[in-house]
Amino acid sequence: MVQGGQKQPLVAGENPEFWGSIDDLLKAQPENVPADATWFSVILSLIFLPLNLIQGILAGLIPRLFVVVSIGLDCCLCSCSAMSSVLKGRPLYLAFTWWRYTFAGLTALISNKKSRLSLFLWEWNAFGSGDWWWHGEGCWSWKWEQVNELLMRPQARKKAFGAVSAPVPDLFASDLVIFLPNLEDPTGSLWQVMRDALHTFLDNDGATYKDRLEQMPTKLQTDWPNPSTSELNDVPKLRRIVAKCVFWMIFGKWLDDEDATMLANWRNHAFWFVLPRLVQRTLMNIGIRKVKKLRKNSVELIERLNLQELFVTINEGLPQKHRRENTVKLCDEIMYAIGFAGIGGTSACVESCGAFLLCEYPAESATDKISFGHFNTSEKMIAKYKEDPEKYIKETCRMDPPVTSATTSFAKAMTVTLAGRKCPMPAGLLHQYALSVANRDPTVFTDPETFNPDRAELDKALTWNGRFKEGHLYPRICPGRFLSMDIAMAILNHVINPTDGPEATNKGGQV
Ligand code: HEM
Repeated sequence: MVQGGQKQPLVAGENPEFWGSIDDLLKAQPENVPADATWFSVILSLIFLPLNLIQGILAGLIPRLFVVVSIGLDCCLCSCSAMSSVLKGRPLYLAFTWWRYTFAGLTALISNKKSRLSLFLWEWNAFGSGDWWWHGEGCWSWKWEQVNELLMRPQARKKAFGAVSAPVPDLFASDLVIFLPNLEDPTGSLWQVMRDALHTFLDNDGATYKDRLEQMPTKLQTDWPNPSTSELNDVPKLRRIVAKCVFWMIFGKWLDDEDATMLANWRNHAFWFVLPRLVQRTLMNIGIRKVKKLRKNSVELIERLNLQELFVTINEGLPQKHRRENTVKLCDEIMYAIGFAGIGGTSACVESCGAFLLCEYPAESATDKISFGHFNTSEKMIAKYKEDPEKYIKETCRMDPPVTSATTSFAKAMTVTLAGRKCPMPAGLLHQYALSVANRDPTVFTDPETFNPDRAELDKALTWNGRFKEGHLYPRICPGRFLSMDIAMAILNHVINPTDGPEATNKGGQV
C-alpha cells in the first residue's frame, strides 16, 4: 500500500527526470500483426462482406456449422477453418476463415443474449460437451479439476486475451502482468518483478491499508449521503464509486466525480478489450482510440495529483534488466492493471451483487442459468446478505464471475479431442480456461445453477484465479482479491445499512 513519496515533492505540473511522455509511448507501432489482420485483409473482407455475413450468421446459429468454420471437417475442407489458419501461422490466403468466423462468433454471442457464459456453454455443446472446445485462436477447457490443477502450476502466458492475440501496444500495454509467463526462473522473471511492484500498491496487511479501510465508510457517507437500495442498479453511479474507492485505497486520495467518471471507463470500455485487431481495424480503431485516451488520462491523473514519485521509487528498486528507461512506462502498466483488473473487476462484482440484492439479473449474465432459489424477493436477498456479506459476494461472483476466463498457452505439445476428433496441438497454442464454467462443474458444485451462499463447496470457486482462502497454492491468484472484497463490502454495506453507522462496514472483510 503506497504511503506517499519519500523524496522531495515535485512542483505541480513537473515530471521527474527520466519520466518520459505517455504520448510517445502510445505512438508505438502495432506489434505482431498477422497477415489476416492487415489493412489489406480488412479491405478484402469488406469487399466480400455479403458472403462473410451470410456464412457467419448461419454458422453462428447452427452449432454444426459453427464447428466447421472453427475447426473444419475431416476432409479437404479442414484446411479452411480458423484452427487451421492458426496452425499454419495465420497466412493471408486463409484470412477468409477469420472474416466469416468473426461474424459467426458475433452472431452466437447475440443469440446467447450477449452473455459470455451462455456463449461458452453453447460452444461447448456445439463441440459435443466434452473436455474441450475451440474458440478464437485456441482450445478452451472447463472442468474444475483440470482448471484447478492448471492454476497451481506456472503458466506459459502470452500477449493474448480471450484466446486471441492481444492488440499491443496500443489497446493493451505490452508488458501487462497478465501477459507475462512465470514458467522458468519465476523469482527473477519480469512477471515476478511486476507482481512484487503491484504488491507495493496492494499490501492488505499494512497499517496504511487498514487505516484507509477504516476511513472508507466516512468517505462514502460524505460522497453518497442518503443511499437507497433502488440505487443498487444505478450502474454509472456504482462504477464511479468503485473507481473512487479503488483510488482511495491505493493512493490515499478521494477523487471528484469528474476524475472518477474518467476512471470508470476502465469498466465502460469492457467491450473493446475483447475484440481482435482485425475487428478493431474494421471498426476504424474507434475502440483502440478510446482505450489509448483512457491510458493517457489515467497517467495524466497521476501527474496532476503529483504521485509520480511512487512509480519512480518502484522503478529505481527494480533489477537493472527490468528497469524501465522511462518511468511513465511502468506507471502506464501499473495503472492499466489497477484500472483494467481492479476497477473493471470490482465494478463487475458490485454490479452483480447490486442486481442480485434486488433479485434482478445483472446485464450480460446467463439469465436462464441463474436461479435465485429460496431467495426470490429483494427482502430475502438483503436479509441473506446481512447474515454474511462475504459469503454472499463469493456466491454471486461464483454464478456471475467478473472475470469469466483467462488465457495461457500449452507449455508442451498435446492432443485434445474436439467434437470427437483427436487434434494434435503444438506447444505455445493458446489455451483458455473458463473459470465461469468451472465454477458450475456439477461434479464439484451441488445444484450449480441455484444461488446458495451457504453451499458447502463455496470456497472451491476459482473466481479470483484460484480458491480465495488458499491463495498460497496459486502463483497467479488475483493479488487484489482482499481489496476487491473489502471495497465491494464497504459499498454494499453503505447502501444496505445506511443507518447502522461506519462500524457496520467492512465486518469480516479479511479472510
Ligand atoms: C481492486 C481490485 C483488483 C485488483 C487490483 C486486481 C488485480 C489483478 C492483477 C494485477 C492480476 C494479474 C495477476 C497475475 O497475472 O499474476 C489479476 C488477475 C486476476 N484477477 Fe484481479 N484484481 C482485482 C479485482 C478482481 C476481482 C473483483 C476479480 C473477480 C471477482 C478478480 C479476478 C481475477 C482473475 C480471475 C485474474 C486472472 C486473470 C488473468 O490472469 O487473465 N480480480 N487481478
